[in-house]
Amino acid sequence: MEALSSLEPLIGEAKESIARLSSYLEELSALRGMGQVLQDRVDSLRRQMDDMYETVALGITAEAMSHEVFNVADRLARRAKAAQTSLHNRGVGDRAMLAFIEHVHSAVMALRKQMSFLSPALRYVRERREDIDLPAFLEELRKEFYQERLTKSRITLAIVSKNDARFMVRMNRGKLVQVVDNLMLNSEYWLREDLAQKRIADGDVTLEVDRPFLRIWDNGRGIDPTVEHALFQPFVSAKARGQGRGLGLFIVKQLLDSEGCGVGILPERNKHRRLFKFQIDLRGALND
Ligand SMILES: Nc1ncnc2c1ncn2[C@@H]1O[C@H](COP(=O)(O)OP(=O)(O)OP(=O)(O)O)[C@@H](O)[C@H]1O
Ligand SMILES: [Mg+2]
Repeated sequence: MEALSSLEPLIGEAKESIARLSSYLEELSALRGMGQVLQDRVDSLRRQMDDMYETVALGITAEAMSHEVFNVADRLARRAKAAQTSLHNRGVGDRAMLAFIEHVHSAVMALRKQMSFLSPALRYVRERREDIDLPAFLEELRKEFYQERLTKSRITLAIVSKNDARFMVRMNRGKLVQVVDNLMLNSEYWLREDLAQKRIADGDVTLEVDRPFLRIWDNGRGIDPTVEHALFQPFVSAKARGQGRGLGLFIVKQLLDSEGCGVGILPERNKHRRLFKFQIDLRGALND
């Protein structure tokens, strides 16, 4: 009897311990779930790093390649010139030959022109700043760089000036090209989707110049609500898997930050109730 009564408190304690233990066990299984979440997070971060390295590697390759393309173009131009002179000196007027040399000349010019838009974004010229007349710059970009490619996709690019004020900025030309190009690439991508799905009959992109702002928007579906809160963060994309890295807008923001400028999305919504208007604030680079 005495033994039994001395057991009682022990049993009481054991019961308590069991209760505590089972709550620990619950916590443990919750933690195990957490472990899975962390594992997933680590996996996804690792994938993002891989993407990042790949992108950086691509940039380095592009840099090397652009250098080489310029060299090849130069050699080609020199050789063509030499051939032309030699034909001329020998008084040979072979029409086909001369036409061919002319063709080489214009091909070299076209190559240089295309490269000259892209290569300023590459490092060896990135730090150079120059005075840029924004409306004229955009017009040139439209004519020489976008027109042909957009027309093929049934997309029109309009440049509108909201006021007639002079709009001069001092910044790196290549950076500005890259900023505009990343935004254009987005518009092109989503407009092409919408055109293919017959959601719209024509694609329109508008660049609105309104000192000190530059706005860009298109008549496509607009920004998917699932990404609107984190648009300018890296690796945020609503493109189909494997199609977008979600780096375009992040890069736009970084490039503008580095010039004391900024980018945002305006609160205005389109008929699908989606955000759609990007605004670049160039106050930090105004020059006059
Ligand atoms: N003009 C646009 N129309 C509709 N959605 C857009 C537009 N511009 C951006 N977005 C949305 O913002 C997301 C992020 O754009 P961002 O340029 O950063 O990445 P991405 O285009 O998906 O990938 P990447 O630019 O690396 O190829 C896009 O996936 C898209 O959902
Ligand atoms: Mg993009």
